[in-house]
Amino acid sequence: MLTQLEYAATSLVSPPLGTKVLEPVRSPLKLGVLASGSGSNFAAIAAACAKDELPAQVQVMIYNNPNAKAAERAAQWQIPSRLLNHRSYAQREDLDHAIINTLQEFGVEWVVMAGWMRVVTPVLIDAFPERILNIHPSLLPSFRGVRAVEQALAAGVKITGCTVHLVVPELDSGPILTQAAVPILPGDTPETLHARIQVQEHLILKQAIALVAG
Ligand code: GAR
Repeated sequence: MLTQLEYAATSLVSPPLGTKVLEPVRSPLKLGVLASGSGSNFAAIAAACAKDELPAQVQVMIYNNPNAKAAERAAQWQIPSRLLNHRSYAQREDLDHAIINTLQEFGVEWVVMAGWMRVVTPVLIDAFPERILNIHPSLLPSFRGVRAVEQALAAGVKITGCTVHLVVPELDSGPILTQAAVPILPGDTPETLHARIQVQEHLILKQAIALVAG
């Protein structure tokens, strides 16, 4: 049997009969994570990468609120973090240019908006075409935009959930990659419901990253 190196050397021609075709060795997907708040989704990704559950590595975590707990989590996971405070930029596009510069500085291939509460512009989307994931706390296309958990409670639906989708210029509207349903229970408050949704978010976000990495 040929070793992987030998096979690589002969791979420009058809492999000889009886040669076991080995999978090419992939390097981990280089992720950049954008987070605005608690960063529990970011932490779920970081933990999965550290345990080799995901063929990926977080190169940098960018946050826009100086008080975001996500920054503490980055320090715990020894992941570089950068504060890009949206208040320091006159236009959304200016913030997006700063994000692109930081992502490129760290060699990021895929971007994950993990609780990123800023609307992104085509400037960022065009820099990473079909390579930006967003997690949203509803079963899209229902309840786009802010306060999606409250929207679901106000609408009186019995089932809501969460969605990971590719980012396109229209808010919360890109192709859906993964979803999970979460029942709404009698007496649910935004906090109790959001807590159960977040358990599912951490799972489907990892599934989506595995999907794009594969
Ligand atoms: C998550 O529930 C995510 O779905 C939501 O913010 C939360 C962040 O939690 N994102 C949006 O509402 C985006 N429209 P986290 O900081 O603990 O990951």
